[in-house]
Amino acid sequence: MVRVTIVGGAGRVGRSIVEELGKQGKHEVILWTRRDPSEHQIPGVKTIQVTDYSHSNLVKLLQGTHTVLAFFNPMSDPGSRNQIALIDAAVAARVTRFAPSEWAGKVRSGIKMYDMKEPVLDHLEKLNREKKVIEWGIFQPGLLMDYLAHPCPPSKHFDTFPLLFDLENARAVVVEDGTAPVVFTASTDVAKVVARAIDHPEPWTLDGGIVGERTSYKEVIETAERITGREFTVYRLNPDDLERGEFKSPWIPSYAPNLPPETMRDVVVPFISGWALGIYKGVADVDPVWNKRLPDIRYETVDEMLRGAWERLQARK
Ligand SMILES: NC(=O)c1ccc[n+]([C@@H]2O[C@H](COP(=O)([O-])OP(=O)(O)OC[C@H]3O[C@@H](n4cnc5c(N)ncnc54)[C@H](OP(=O)(O)O)[C@@H]3O)[C@@H](O)[C@H]2O)c1
Repeated sequence: MVRVTIVGGAGRVGRSIVEELGKQGKHEVILWTRRDPSEHQIPGVKTIQVTDYSHSNLVKLLQGTHTVLAFFNPMSDPGSRNQIALIDAAVAARVTRFAPSEWAGKVRSGIKMYDMKEPVLDHLEKLNREKKVIEWGIFQPGLLMDYLAHPCPPSKHFDTFPLLFDLENARAVVVEDGTAPVVFTASTDVAKVVARAIDHPEPWTLDGGIVGERTSYKEVIETAERITGREFTVYRLNPDDLERGEFKSPWIPSYAPNLPPETMRDVVVPFISGWALGIYKGVADVDPVWNKRLPDIRYETVDEMLRGAWERLQARK
């Protein structure tokens, strides 16, 4: 048994990993939150409130920790200040393994929305340049499959939006013909892999791909049509338009309804264009590195995720 500290793990992506580790009971699991810990009582998990990100406080809290998993994105951590403070404290506290808050696709891909994550990678690389002071690695599940289930994801803690695909309203946006390869992995499968990775003998590396299913948006739409018996409206985008910042579709997938036009223009369109272009350029087409290391894990398929979501949607009516 080792101590695993999970920072920001009560949010969207980290929650299933915290729940899985707590359920397995193999390790001591400590969850950090800035909120009232009573909001995040999870079986098998000790939740503590951490708001002071000073070096001395973080080093004190991390004493005895073997693995740190970080889950906050740069948009809620300006300049990645807290994450970099966490890394420096992890080194000082002699933490063995560290996973930065990636949990997505390929790194250094030239996709604008991922640029903000690079200072964290730069920092980790710099730390180990002269001598290895911490083992770190990235987990890359591609796109989390839970988004395909919007608005009925398997977990109420995973806050979804229609990421270019809207099961409820039978519509989707694709770039060109939508055949670019994309990996979707269910968050519960990411959790199974991470739980096994904690004491796995192979080192954590920069290429930590996890492949739930390698498919394309075109195939996802065809599967959804088969399951729902409805024909999808598909809006096709041109990659050159997207590069110019133009999202020429009557439907603009958004993470929240009824946003003001300036928010749609300045935030939503760049965000969703980044995803569309990234998928088109293969950013979510990760290699099955952890699949090869843990060959006995069975992954949820897109068909299964969509069937479950469709059943929940029908039951809601
Ligand atoms: N592959 C995909 O499809 C996909 C989808 C979504 C996200 N992601 C990636 O997964 C990672 C986590 O994303 P997420 O959406 O779960 O993250 P998030 O909502 O930004 O943050 C998760 C939790 O971190 C804590 N937190 C946020 N900002 C913090 C800060 N400055 N300092 C300390 N704690 C902070 C918050 O918990 P408390 O309020 O409890 O402290 C929050 O609930 C990101 O790297 C993101 O890019 C990938």
